[in-house]
Amino acid sequence: MTILVTGGAGFIGANFVRTSLDVSDETIVNLDKLTYAGNLESLQSVSQNDRHIFEKGDITDVALIDSLLRKYKPRAIVNFAAESHVDRSILGPEAFIETNIVGTFRLLEASRRYWTEMEAEKQARFRYLQVSTDEVYGSLSPNDAAFSETNKYEPNSPYSASKASSDHLVRSYQHTYGLPTLTTNCSNNYGPFQFPEKLIPLIIHNALDEKPLPIYGDGRQIRDWLYVEDHCDAIRSVLANGRVGETYNVGGESEMTNLDVVSIVCEILDRLRPRDKGKYFDLVTYVTDRPGHDRRYAVDISKIKSELGWTPAESFETGIEKTVRWYLDHQTWIEHIKSGEYLSWVEKQYG
Ligand code: NAD
Ligand code: TYD
Repeated sequence: MTILVTGGAGFIGANFVRTSLDVSDETIVNLDKLTYAGNLESLQSVSQNDRHIFEKGDITDVALIDSLLRKYKPRAIVNFAAESHVDRSILGPEAFIETNIVGTFRLLEASRRYWTEMEAEKQARFRYLQVSTDEVYGSLSPNDAAFSETNKYEPNSPYSASKASSDHLVRSYQHTYGLPTLTTNCSNNYGPFQFPEKLIPLIIHNALDEKPLPIYGDGRQIRDWLYVEDHCDAIRSVLANGRVGETYNVGGESEMTNLDVVSIVCEILDRLRPRDKGKYFDLVTYVTDRPGHDRRYAVDISKIKSELGWTPAESFETGIEKTVRWYLDHQTWIEHIKSGEYLSWVEKQYG
């Protein structure tokens, strides 16, 4: 059996590929465009595994998708491929429209053609899973209930609007054509192999370099955090047992302010790699807030818990300890990323 994974050289995709090869005997075909966020070094541990087949390419390339589906005949498609960084979407939304909306549309079209021509038994088993985000629901006030699957969509950034659009396309392909789709809406992930433009790896990276730790606005914005391997496990659960056409919220039941997150990361670094003088938190610098910055995300995970029996294995405390240790042990992975593209992003964003 074979699964087609898109975006499997990115943060969550690479963790999904690696952990899935461990827990199942299926073959994974990994289609990735290798944008700035895609990194084959994140897949080094599976590079000799003949159940992992890497194909470089773009999800907007219809001819390529058609040929991959004909060649590998996957039983499922899991779409991770996306532009994923809110700040980049504010500075340049076009790539988000192209990959997240047009790319998902093309992938759905190719999936539909492929699925329509399958024999009945395989057709009944086929699944298309869209990996999405809690950000499509918008921003919560302090006393609002956490996002449930029935919350209305109120995306506020070009990133979340593009993800919302792709979720709607997925829904319509299920409703109109009967394509067997599933959607997961997950909260903020952290863990190994995350590109250091996102909060947690950026803080670790800057702290070790003795650089300022940028906090947007007052730092009291709240996110729910989930260890990436728990997210991968949730996706496998939904793929295996999720009800066709349904969406499942995924999260860590771990709401925290950005300041709390940064402070915990700094405390772990103080313990594991103390500075010559002072504490890492002394490097915190308040910078101009992100335009339209969502104040709070929180995710109600009772549906996936009760229907599929999934719960996160890691608490934030255990997951963040593992994560900080991983970055300390994999400094070369980070060093290789610090290329021209990364430096020019830092210059543009932080001045
Ligand atoms: P990422 O930016 O680390 O990786 C994205 C991957 O997609 C990269 O390998 C990139 O090369 C590839 N890609 C981009 N455009 C492509 C295209 N046109 N064709 C083929 N490949 C392309 O992202 P991530 O953090 O791993 O997120 C993966 C998915 O999970 C995204 O859909 C994102 O919206 C969703 N998600 C992320 C989080 C999070 O906290 N990171 C939370 C919830 C949902
Ligand atoms: P991020 O990791 O970009 O994820 P998202 O915007 O998808 O939630 O940011 C997490 C939170 O951290 C968010 O509220 C923005 C904030 N943040 C900072 O305060 N400083 C930074 O340098 C970055 C990258 C993020």
